[in-house]
Amino acid sequence: MREIAAEDYPFLRACRRQPTEYTPIWLMRQAGRYMKEYRKLRRRFSFLEMCKNSELAAKVTLLPVEQLKVDAAIIFADILLPLEPMGIELEFAKSEGPIIHHPIREMNQIGSLRIIEPEEDLPFLMEAIRIVRRELENKIPLIGFSGGPFTLASYIIEGGHSKNYILTKGLMYQDRVAWDSLMEKISEVLIRYLNAQIHAGAQALQLFDSWVGYLSPSDYEEYVLPYSKKVIDGADKSVPLIHFATSSSTLLERMKRAGGDVIGVDWRVDLKEAWARLGYEVAIQGNLDPVILLGPVDLIEREVKRILGEAEGRPGHIFNLGHGILPNTPVDHVAALVDMVHRFSLR
Ligand code: CP3
Repeated sequence: MREIAAEDYPFLRACRRQPTEYTPIWLMRQAGRYMKEYRKLRRRFSFLEMCKNSELAAKVTLLPVEQLKVDAAIIFADILLPLEPMGIELEFAKSEGPIIHHPIREMNQIGSLRIIEPEEDLPFLMEAIRIVRRELENKIPLIGFSGGPFTLASYIIEGGHSKNYILTKGLMYQDRVAWDSLMEKISEVLIRYLNAQIHAGAQALQLFDSWVGYLSPSDYEEYVLPYSKKVIDGADKSVPLIHFATSSSTLLERMKRAGGDVIGVDWRVDLKEAWARLGYEVAIQGNLDPVILLGPVDLIEREVKRILGEAEGRPGHIFNLGHGILPNTPVDHVAALVDMVHRFSLR
């Protein structure tokens, strides 16, 4: 790979809807359990230990860059990392996912949540970003990220992953004052968290509001949009921002109003239809179903061609999955996907 001037990175050009030689691609959760090098490291270190060790986090960030020829790297971290310095106890239990030990359910708990100082509270993340930037030698750009305010609030309130978001919606509907003060606090934390990542060297941002699709459009508008907008408006405009959610086909126009240079969509919506609804005024990212990557390869090929066809060669398409890579995905299928997207889209 050769060194590229920042304004010429295909990924960053696509974020700004400028023409590129081919459609750039990166993959959500591209650094993770489907890689044997990652699983080997995980036998020696817990997930949080890996996140908090800058050298290890940098190493894992670079695994897919070396193996897959993706057009962007994403820093190895987690949307839940800001919780600990906010004063919320976090654990990643074996095969259960995240557990928050004292979930926030009442107004009197919200006052004591800390507004973080990212450089002091999460120095390992900022250092990992600096290491990765050095190692990448300007060959591809590095993406920083955070959760969206609703998605983060849902973990803080539910105490982990949820099926129906009963407690989150309960607080939203029954204690507006508590909801607003929690969302205000989370938004302030996220603005600081994102800007610190830019300051450390992140060249683009993705806001993962993974679970907003569980809300009705009117509830999204009333209880979430103002805070997503606040976070996106508060993020430094020197780098492009990707605003992503799953099951968001009912929310696309509203997500666009909340902001972002790129809207990330999952496979439940036609990319062509989604982009038309967005008026082609933003770039679009997506939207292969991660299950397709299990194969066979001719199925992957058919779907890549279909999705590239939906984008109609318009500047501003970033190829990605509709959600993260599944743990049992064969690495050679992922490498084949990256290669196909580059070859089939070559202009
Ligand atoms: O994309 C990347 O490769 C960068 C790293 C990254 C991780 N998490 C590492 C991780 C990113 C971008 C995330 C985002 C994230 N984390 C989201 C939003 C994206 C999405 O999937 O909707 C959410 C909701 C989380 C919270 C989280 N972290 C959950 C629910 C889990 C457990 C379930 C799961 O998918 O693994 C995690 C753990 C986690 N985050 C792992 C990794 C590599 C697995 C840890 C392990 O067991 O080794």
